[in-house]
Amino acid sequence: MSYKEHYSVLYQECLDQLLITNRKKHLDMTFGGGGHFFLFLKSGKVQKIIGLDQDPEAFKNGKDLIANSSFSECASIIHTNFYDFLNSTDEKFDSILADLGVSSHHFDSPERGFSFRFDGPLDMRMNTTEGIGAKEVLNTYEESELADIFYIYGEERLSRKIASKVVEFRKNKKFSTTKELEEICFVSYPKHLRHGKTHPATRVFQALRIYVNKELEVLENSIPLMIEKLNPGGRLGLISFHSLEDRIVKHKFRELYKNDQENLKIITKKPITPSNEELEQNPRSRSAKLRVIEKLVL
Ligand SMILES: C[S@@+](CC[C@H](N)C(=O)[O-])C[C@H]1O[C@@H](n2cnc3c(N)ncnc32)[C@H](O)[C@@H]1O
Repeated sequence: MSYKEHYSVLYQECLDQLLITNRKKHLDMTFGGGGHFFLFLKSGKVQKIIGLDQDPEAFKNGKDLIANSSFSECASIIHTNFYDFLNSTDEKFDSILADLGVSSHHFDSPERGFSFRFDGPLDMRMNTTEGIGAKEVLNTYEESELADIFYIYGEERLSRKIASKVVEFRKNKKFSTTKELEEICFVSYPKHLRHGKTHPATRVFQALRIYVNKELEVLENSIPLMIEKLNPGGRLGLISFHSLEDRIVKHKFRELYKNDQENLKIITKKPITPSNEELEQNPRSRSAKLRVIEKLVL
């Protein structure tokens, strides 16, 4: 299927924060639809740029976009998890950006199983070439493990009740679709809470997606490597979309700064959030937070 357009959040803020001087080499760890990637190129301040994405569709689309652009000499994309890339490269960069999590393409593609708005296979893997999907987790994990996943990664207060309903359901039939899970979440909620601002399935879907893609572990283990890969004077910007992610970024930046105060400076004491104008244009950006850290020139 064609790659769905992605609105690039906080893009002006990313340019202002990361390209403070003419930055020669930029790493975009989350290519997605290429929004930030091409904005950095078009700024005229980047001489070389590498994009990464673990999603095969984003990678293929990115390859075509680059090949058909006027930037094919200085831009490239690699199909990889950013943790694997950071672990295996000797290259250093003048600016690094990660716009974390999944893209609009994921949420808007029923066949990827990320959204309860559509019926589709319960998969939720960003990299469809490896690992296990959400339905394997739901069909095979112990009730207590499922409850922990819903609670830890979704902060779902009804985690135990939903896990118990999941196990009850699968006695008769294995999970295969998003609508089956949505229905279980819906009926697990008391009637007076079923039609609130947040749909009863929101937190469970978030939890499974984070779990299946190991998003938090990858982020936590990658941040020290990201900083290691910065040239002196280089900046790292991380955009997070929920409190679990933002907490990791905040704490990891503080911990690394505490251990290396002479080399590092936290640029954003408070995270940068979207302007009212951006919120109007793209309500999905409402939870975005950008934090920036700099490796100092000694
Ligand atoms: C929010 S989107 C990025 C959108 C992009 N900044 C734009 O403007 O179009 C996140 C993208 O990063 C990818 N991604 C998430 N975690 C990743 C990881 N650990 N390694 C590589 N790619 C990842 C996802 O597949 C998704 O395409």
